[in-house]
Amino acid sequence: MLWKRATAHMAGHVAAADPAPTALPDPSSPHILFDGVRKTYPGGVEALQAVSFAIPRGSVFGIIGRSGAGKSTLLRAINMLERPSGGRVLVDGIDVGGLGEEDLVRLRRRIGMIFQHFNLLSAKTVRENVGLPLKVAGVGAAEVRRRVDELLDLVGLADKADVYPSKLSGGQKQRVGIARALVHRPEILLCDEATSALDPETTHAILGLLRDINATLGLTIVLITHDMAVIRAICDEVMVLDRGHRVEHGPVWLVFGTPQGDATRALLRPLRHGLPDDIARRLQADPPAQGGGQAVLSLRFTGESHPDGISLASLLALAPDARLLHGGIDRIQGHAQGDLVIAVPVAAMRSAAGSRFSPDSWKVLGYVADDV
Ligand SMILES: Nc1ncnc2c1ncn2[C@@H]1O[C@H](COP(=O)(O)OP(=O)(O)OP(=O)(O)O)[C@@H](O)[C@H]1O
Ligand SMILES: [Mg+2]
Repeated sequence: MLWKRATAHMAGHVAAADPAPTALPDPSSPHILFDGVRKTYPGGVEALQAVSFAIPRGSVFGIIGRSGAGKSTLLRAINMLERPSGGRVLVDGIDVGGLGEEDLVRLRRRIGMIFQHFNLLSAKTVRENVGLPLKVAGVGAAEVRRRVDELLDLVGLADKADVYPSKLSGGQKQRVGIARALVHRPEILLCDEATSALDPETTHAILGLLRDINATLGLTIVLITHDMAVIRAICDEVMVLDRGHRVEHGPVWLVFGTPQGDATRALLRPLRHGLPDDIARRLQADPPAQGGGQAVLSLRFTGESHPDGISLASLLALAPDARLLHGGIDRIQGHAQGDLVIAVPVAAMRSAAGSRFSPDSWKVLGYVADDV
């Protein structure tokens, strides 16, 4: 059981207060399970409406949705910082809503949390910030120091131990936040827009760190972000919330490749390669009456039928002088997917019927009279 496993890690520090560890949970069972979770805030806002889904053990799990969709409420229900109005949240099969005060404290130690705003204490050094939760838990000074130094090493801040937060960059502050979240050796790390305040390069470095932590410590990571590239870079599965409802959930490549709902499509639009404005302005509905001209086609590859990549030969089979105007193919979890915008001479288009070419979907966006 989760809060009893905690004692296995913490044995050296709080063994006297804790019962003996029991059997480890089944590795194939979900780590976290939402079962019809509802949340109605005072005032009547229905932030979550019967949300059910499972988070696999050891996965990096993304939650996306528009502002106000209920993401933070959902995340905070995992450690009961927000109590659901209905339904159950199971962590390692235990209904966390039914835990008493003491067990809840133990549960929260098993679940680290990091935020957009790092919430560091400005009057304390990096070492003191990271060590504080252990000190509060009654861990001895020597052990606190040993554990904190180990964590600062892990997050690449060994040389900043005695520095105050005001002297750190945003990325360094978040590393302190991560070290502090890991101090109780949690099994779950919750991240609520943890990289939103960081520049792209620092975001990349923090994501790398999270992925390392996931791989080396085996943590289950649940993260909320508005940045779809973050989901694409490190998540195994993604769940889409819309106005309190779970609208989509699956492996990232599948949800990103074939989004089902309007809310998901809207969220993913920044990743799509739509028609460039300059070409859009010149587009006509019909081929030029005088003959000639180019058809502008949009090709979509979902990752399903060409997972290993898009064959250039098959592209050229459409028309030998087809030209690639715009687009991109990403490899997500071993699946090549993306959009290409191409121009094909109208005359060649007609003869291309029956070619071997097979994007997952394609359409003629329109025609231009001259070369594009
Ligand atoms: N303490 C609260 N009291 C009343 N309503 C709340 C409270 N917290 C959140 N809400 C409402 O619940 C809904 C979901 O809020 P939540 O913070 O979970 O959304 P979110 O998806 O995290 O949004 P964002 O992306 O902006 O952080 C919103 O309509 C919000 O106004
Ligand atoms: Mg939020």
